[in-house]
Amino acid sequence: MSLTELKPDQYAVMGHPIAHSQSPRIHALFAAQTHQSLEYQAILVEPGGFAAAAQTFRASGGKGLNVTIPFKQDAWVYADLLSARAERAGAVNTLIFETGGIRGDNTDGVGLVRDLTVNHRYPLAEKRILLLGAGGAARGVLPSLLAERPAQLVIANRTAEKALGLALRFNDLGRVSGCGFAELAERQFDLIINATSAGLGDAVPPLPDAVLAVEGWCYDLMYGREPTAFVRWGREHGAVQSLDGVGMLVEQAAESFRLWRGVSPETKPVIAVLREGCVTP
Ligand code: ATR
Repeated sequence: MSLTELKPDQYAVMGHPIAHSQSPRIHALFAAQTHQSLEYQAILVEPGGFAAAAQTFRASGGKGLNVTIPFKQDAWVYADLLSARAERAGAVNTLIFETGGIRGDNTDGVGLVRDLTVNHRYPLAEKRILLLGAGGAARGVLPSLLAERPAQLVIANRTAEKALGLALRFNDLGRVSGCGFAELAERQFDLIINATSAGLGDAVPPLPDAVLAVEGWCYDLMYGREPTAFVRWGREHGAVQSLDGVGMLVEQAAESFRLWRGVSPETKPVIAVLREGCVTP
């Protein structure tokens, strides 16, 4: 048997920046837990270089990739065959290299929905949901959110036209509308999801104080060592739960792992390990 045959299956995450990525750690924990022989690394790719880097990785025997900012649209173009949810999202975060071609999928939405509905036992059916932001992150989670049949889903964005455009693109999947932040006055929601990048500057979109309903929940797709600006906003505005995106991060990784390996890892112990080092309670 040659040395290459003995090498564990190779996976990686590509992004820019990538040094902060928790994905290698998460997948190493999944592999140990499920006794799968694989290696997973983080690869920094220069903007414009995604397809070439993915090609090189595949040619060297790579079995699959995770794709993060800013390459999710490049990966969507690169894939030969898209899952329905990736097709709709216009973004791919998981590539599966098969002999017949390259499959593209998007596990972000299912990751968010599983964290809310399974880990936190918060069903989304009949809820009034406010989604903040109309960029790639918002688009990625929209198909899965609408599949849960919320009573309504309102997309609010700083640039209102982008929210309106996104609502139009998805309105065959459920009750979805778009607006600017100013139009949220007098409205109330059971769940507010932050999919803007405002938190990178420790900011929160301008929201009316009464926009969160009594017993409402907040969820930030971002996470960090300290509570994010939006998690703090939720706590200050009486949210029953104000969650960051660590659970979603692990759940989307678990779905990628399942697509690659055909095995579903346990996510709870991995979320617990990440929380120890990631977020100050
Ligand atoms: P991502 O892939 O993370 O979604 P993106 O596609 O650049 O990144 O989208 C960023 C989102 O955050 C957009 O909805 C953006 O609003 P605009 O469409 O008006 O640009 C939103 N955003 C960024 N900074 C913001 C801020 N300080 N306040 C409110 N929204 C902000």
